[in-house]
Amino acid sequence: MPEKNIIIAIDGHSSCGKSTLAKDLATTLNFTYIDTGAMYRAITLKCLQTNVNIEDEAALQNVLIHTSISYDHILDTLQLLLDGQPVDDLIRLPEVAHWVSPVARIPVVRRFLVDIQRKTGNAFQRVIMDGRDIGTVVFPDAAIKLFVTADLNIRARRRYDELVSKGLDISYEDVKNNLEQRDLIDSTREDSPLKKADDAILIDTTFHSINSQLEEALRIVKAKLLTI
Ligand code: DC
Repeated sequence: MPEKNIIIAIDGHSSCGKSTLAKDLATTLNFTYIDTGAMYRAITLKCLQTNVNIEDEAALQNVLIHTSISYDHILDTLQLLLDGQPVDDLIRLPEVAHWVSPVARIPVVRRFLVDIQRKTGNAFQRVIMDGRDIGTVVFPDAAIKLFVTADLNIRARRRYDELVSKGLDISYEDVKNNLEQRDLIDSTREDSPLKKADDAILIDTTFHSINSQLEEALRIVKAKLLTI
């Protein structure tokens, strides 16, 4: 019998260290890391490139029909491809960050991506998938679920430092407002809002360094893996 694949679902707020934690866990435990936020960002980029009116469901559906989201190994890392092209840098631009939550709350977009996320998750033996609704909607039966959060000011400071280090000319207030706005839209949307699954374990990274949050998560995940 083929072995059942193991999914670790990591959900949580924007810029709380969730992706760094998910990537570090995946590297340490030899799991494949899938970033579903990057998929919503890629669709947002496509909407901006095609100038589609996101309120027009038929037009949006037409854009989605002509969109491919896939993965390929490039220089040893699994890279997200939008219509066959790597878009890692473009999807981190402030314009995409500004529009991604409004795009991510649209049900046709969510249906399109949840289907891809399930297929991608099932295509690998051991997967860590991060997002907002992985433990509640995409893989409600995931073997292990973590919910990551941190204080808003700490999150804004971390994201601001990251963007400035990449050479972007942006103010701390703008970064904080964007995070606050995204939290609000993500948590209050009707379709699969951001919320902690009842059986998810909470990790608050406010007072954690990258190393100490990894240590805590490893402790939790290793203990759970022993019970599977
Ligand atoms: O993780 P991130 O900041 O790159 O995610 C970008 C946006 O995508 C975020 O504002 C919420 C949305 N998102 C979502 O609605 N569901 C997911 N599974 C992942 C991200």
